[in-house]
Amino acid sequence: MTLLRLYINIDHVATLRQARRTDEPDPVAAARLCEDAGADGITAHLREDRRHIQDADVEALRLALRTPFNLEMACTEEMLGIAERLKPFQVTLVPEKREEVTTEGGLDVTRATDTLAAAIARLKAASIRTSLFIDAVPMVVERSAWLGANAIELHTGAYARYPHDERPLAALRDAARQARALGLAVHAGHGLTVRNVGPVAAIPEVEELNIGHSIVSRAVFAGLAASVREMRQAMDVARVAPPR
Ligand code: PXP
Repeated sequence: MTLLRLYINIDHVATLRQARRTDEPDPVAAARLCEDAGADGITAHLREDRRHIQDADVEALRLALRTPFNLEMACTEEMLGIAERLKPFQVTLVPEKREEVTTEGGLDVTRATDTLAAAIARLKAASIRTSLFIDAVPMVVERSAWLGANAIELHTGAYARYPHDERPLAALRDAARQARALGLAVHAGHGLTVRNVGPVAAIPEVEELNIGHSIVSRAVFAGLAASVREMRQAMDVARVAPPR
């Protein structure tokens, strides 16, 4: 069985920073902490509207990371130019709609196939590994292989939303098997949590998971008590020894 890599998506550290347009929390520092804690790679989505990750973040991540950097991006001329210049280890192409809260569905690989094929060829020419974020649908898997991608990332959103429905999980299992038979590496992600990751992690063909929101959410509670204690102490120290 293939070893399963954990790539952590640090977008929502930047979401918190952008809420104040300040310099904390720093997604690069968060990424280094993730690496220290055992992440196999770091993922960041540079959205066209720059709602969380900024251009300066991807530049800094590219220099600071010790593990592979997976740049998520839309298939646009602007993003392709950024990827060619930065040369991250991997690019995952995702669909992007401005009004969406998060990436809602997989790439429509049946449309704009020439654009997608050309983008994959450009990325490969820049020695960047390519992955396509897709729904677990047989025709879409087949088309992804035809387009020449190295990998697919199966969208686990439907599975995460309907955990008691067997069909989304069965579709993921079938798609993973089909993709591997076609020579594609199989990744998966979206909506995964400690509670629901098990059945996806158990799919033998899946070699990489991209997980973000649940880890960053959990970090708030794992760290909140310590931050309150730090503030309490800073206030108490000021009372005993007032700063000038
Ligand atoms: N994979 C892709 C392609 C995504 O767009 C996202 C969300 O940014 C994720 C994985 C991670 O999803 P989540 O934040 O729900 O763990």
